[in-house]
Amino acid sequence: MILRHIISTKQFLDTSLLDKIFRLADKMESREKANTLPNYLRNKIMVAVFYEPSTRTRFSFEAAMYKLGGEVITTESAGHFSSAIKGESLTDSIKIISGYADVIVLRHPTKGSAKIAADVSEVPVINAGDGTGEHPTQALLDIYTIEKELGRLENLNIALVGDLLNGRTIHSLLILLSLYKKIKFYLVAPKKLQLPKEYKEHLKKKKITFEEVEDVQQVLDKVDVLYMTRVQKERFKTEHEYNQLKSFYVIDKAALKKLNKKAIIMHPLPRVIEITPEVDKDKRAAYFRQAKNGLYIRMALLKMIIDGLKH
Ligand code: NCD
Repeated sequence: MILRHIISTKQFLDTSLLDKIFRLADKMESREKANTLPNYLRNKIMVAVFYEPSTRTRFSFEAAMYKLGGEVITTESAGHFSSAIKGESLTDSIKIISGYADVIVLRHPTKGSAKIAADVSEVPVINAGDGTGEHPTQALLDIYTIEKELGRLENLNIALVGDLLNGRTIHSLLILLSLYKKIKFYLVAPKKLQLPKEYKEHLKKKKITFEEVEDVQQVLDKVDVLYMTRVQKERFKTEHEYNQLKSFYVIDKAALKKLNKKAIIMHPLPRVIEITPEVDKDKRAAYFRQAKNGLYIRMALLKMIIDGLKH
């Protein structure tokens, strides 16, 4: 398989390519720490086109590119600072940008936009979040984190908690985790924010066990991974609707007492109120380590994609 665009985690049909990405990420980390990273991507340009806000995703992609000796062109508010404001279509913008870039990293508010961009681009496109659709590189770093923290990717009980309707990291993650054996999901969401049907169908097709639960307290002692997400404010029609749901789940000191001693707490970040700061000191809190892993995963992905090697 040639890894060209990364649009959806559905592209990964088995775990062998994932394993290659993870082992390359390990190598990137050890070389980075030893200060022995070669300039693998010298003379290569990554263009980051972000129509939605981002901290971790854009900065870690940019840092990854610089660390490998590459160059970066970036626009963080593409809707305002690119020709989009003059009415240029996404496809026209991507056609033009792909003439200047070796790889494009795109974040856009519309589900399906990354695929549309990939169809007209002359260079690889990486989906860095397409509205309520997917966020495949986040899922890769999430799974890499689980493997690093727990030493396995099989035989896991995983609670996905929060805005399962709009949370794109959830969508990409559950597809990818479905490739591993003996996975059980607890889908923990208020009724209004339950996982969309298409993803439940996917789980059924893959014969993955899942349970829909409303009360997070019920699963705390059962899980190996507690994956928290924020309620996605920007996807709501009214502030009132958001306010009603935003504090449905809060993991605090009391919840930590009930949580399985060997579990890890993950979060794609940014967190708002769903994990209180006092939780950060607990060694089960893996979310900052998770964010750091994003750098190594993105280094591995950029190298693999720009090299265009068969994997
Ligand atoms: C996530 C996103 O943008 O989907 N953030 C990220 O990339 N780490 C999660 C979120 O915004 O809630």
